[in-house]
Amino acid sequence: MRDGFGREIGYMRISITDRCNLRCRYCMPEGIRLAPMEEILTYEEIEMVCKAASELGITRFKLTGGEPLVRAGCPKLVGMIKGLSGTEQVTLTTNGILLGEYLDELVANGLDAVNVSLDTLDCRTFRQMTGYDGLERVKESIHKAVKTGLKIKINTVLQKGINAHEWEALLQLAKENPLDVRFIEMMPIGCGRKQEGIEGNKILSLLKEKYPGIHRDDMLHGNGPAEYYRIPGFAGGIGFISAVHGQFCADCNRIRLTARGELKPCLCYEDSVDVRGILRGQARDGSEGAKKRKEAVRDAVRQAVERKPRKHCFDEEEQITEGRQMVQIGG
Ligand code: 5AD
Ligand code: SF4
Repeated sequence: MRDGFGREIGYMRISITDRCNLRCRYCMPEGIRLAPMEEILTYEEIEMVCKAASELGITRFKLTGGEPLVRAGCPKLVGMIKGLSGTEQVTLTTNGILLGEYLDELVANGLDAVNVSLDTLDCRTFRQMTGYDGLERVKESIHKAVKTGLKIKINTVLQKGINAHEWEALLQLAKENPLDVRFIEMMPIGCGRKQEGIEGNKILSLLKEKYPGIHRDDMLHGNGPAEYYRIPGFAGGIGFISAVHGQFCADCNRIRLTARGELKPCLCYEDSVDVRGILRGQARDGSEGAKKRKEAVRDAVRQAVERKPRKHCFDEEEQITEGRQMVQIGG
């Protein structure tokens, strides 16, 4: 369905947990309050929201977290959503630690593509940025995923003074493997506000100097607002998600569902439509009750689409009303 600005909304990002097995500082700082388990939507509840969304023309779904693979049965949920009649695509964003372990099950359940978050190829920096020694496991997962033939994107957030110099090393992943490496600008959400990111255009200039043959690739690579480039001789592509400096809101195609059952029209604002209350509202008996509930869930999705703002306000931070951390919203 279209939102108030005529944008076709066909994509939903679903956070299935606010837990994570890493502690990236810009996303999940220590000491963060986790939602009690009973507040987190069950898979059946998520499926109901997806079904309602699907009836309104949302056909592509992305599972995120926290880290989606720390929640038991994540591949089963992939299968449940994939099984809905309107679903075109189910994809996953993961930090890669558990990906190798669940890969076969995910593929068997119909996963269409995977995004792996990876900010560094240096063991010590990995530990410094995430709090854990997990780099080798992530690298193994990526290699395993390449072998399955799954579409893969590597998501990298560069930070000044920490991993900014690694753009070139990370790029080599796209040289050697048929996967896209994407540079995402640090967004001023939660602790991301306190970190200094690197502008996408700056990396692009460096790339142009080093690889004069680089050129725009207008083929659609995914559901997101990334701009893609190709470098001759590279097996994969290079993407830029200029979340702060780019102007991609005009093409926004998405709403979000948080683990606690809030439908969010936009990442930047606290506005949300509570769908958990509807799903768990007083039990209504019989098929008439079930029908009413279904309609109410559909209305909630419709409202979230209708309430989408024209654009984010990352350039005017005082207007950002979303005060939570990325891990609580769904990255
Ligand atoms: N800005 C940009 N990206 C972020 N992520 C988490 N927090 C931020 C932020 N403030 C990214 C992670 C991961 C994805 C789930 O979200 O790096 O790739
Ligand atoms: Fe859409 Fe909001 Fe993201 Fe802009 S910031 S692209 S309006 S969700």
